[in-house]
Amino acid sequence: MKHPDHRETIALEAAEVISHQAFDGDQYILRLQAPECATLAQPGQFAHLSCDPMLAMRRPLSIMRVDAEKGWVDFLYKAVGRGTRLLANREAGETLSLLGPIGKPFTFDPSRPRALLLGGGVGIPPMVFFAEHLKNSRDSQPLVLMGSEVPFPFTGRPSRIMVPGMPDGVIAAMPLLDDWGVASRLASLQGYSGCFEGYITDLARRWLDEQNDEQRRQISVYACGPHPMLAAVAKLANDYKLSCQVSLEEYMACAVGGCAGCVVKVQTPEGAAMKRVCVDGPVFEASTVF
Ligand SMILES: Cc1cc2nc3c(=O)[nH]c(=O)nc-3n(C[C@H](O)[C@H](O)[C@H](O)COP(=O)(O)OP(=O)(O)OC[C@H]3O[C@@H](n4cnc5c(N)ncnc54)[C@H](O)[C@@H]3O)c2cc1C
Ligand code: FES
Repeated sequence: MKHPDHRETIALEAAEVISHQAFDGDQYILRLQAPECATLAQPGQFAHLSCDPMLAMRRPLSIMRVDAEKGWVDFLYKAVGRGTRLLANREAGETLSLLGPIGKPFTFDPSRPRALLLGGGVGIPPMVFFAEHLKNSRDSQPLVLMGSEVPFPFTGRPSRIMVPGMPDGVIAAMPLLDDWGVASRLASLQGYSGCFEGYITDLARRWLDEQNDEQRRQISVYACGPHPMLAAVAKLANDYKLSCQVSLEEYMACAVGGCAGCVVKVQTPEGAAMKRVCVDGPVFEASTVF
């Protein structure tokens, strides 16, 4: 069944929980059987999930991975309030309602093929999806930097992929990406082994400083994370004259464009305009929102 307002681009599915893994820091990876969403989804899009039959409002979660052949969709989320805590109780074999995929995805900029992907906390999932997409399409050899102040929902390991320009000792990578041949590095203020001690924007600056002008002209930035991080990313992109897209996380009600509950002010060629994060975003050009 499809949502009528979106001309067959958003599916409504009864999605079976395939697996649900808990990690430190109240983090969970949820795999749902949702074949239509798995087929349609693009990196940067999200799904609106009904967390529990007793909770009327759905909650939005970014799509982290899909397998269109097998029909599953993965989410990584942190339990922060009523909805996500109820979601954390759902077990394999149960069914929940999924509306998705929703929103404008990231758009790869082929004129700047060196993609720098920055994911902070629960902003990591869309970066994993985008990294896999770029790897498969062979458009880019992305570099993915991830930051977290709670333990990462995977065990970082020393990377097998050299990244020229990385500070000495910054060797921890996400195993999944490393196995794909996608370079990644981790950052945290918590002193985790092999991670850069600081914010990912500081690590990105250290790496960018080691690139020459010609190399920097090839770089585009794509980011998702908490608002202060995205503001720092927008400044970084401005300082180094890089193109930059950011994915925003706003409070959402309907998530299909009908209630204007998620509007943000965006600069357009015609001046400032109010845009809905759910369907006009969540991905925007950083320079238009910061
Ligand atoms: C497009 C989009 C994609 C998202 N992707 C993910 C994801 O992949 N993983 C993930 O863990 N979370 C993600 N979120 C945030 C997630 O939707 C919220 O954490 C969730 O809705 C909180 O619901 P709750 O009932 O558990 O908490 P609530 O009781 O509603 O809130 C608990 C706390 O979370 C804060 N909060 C609630 N909603 C948001 C929000 N949208 N943005 C910032 N802070 C919020 C509140 O200030 C409060 O402190 C995404 C949000 C959006 C809009
Ligand atoms: S949440 Fe209703 S318009 Fe965006």
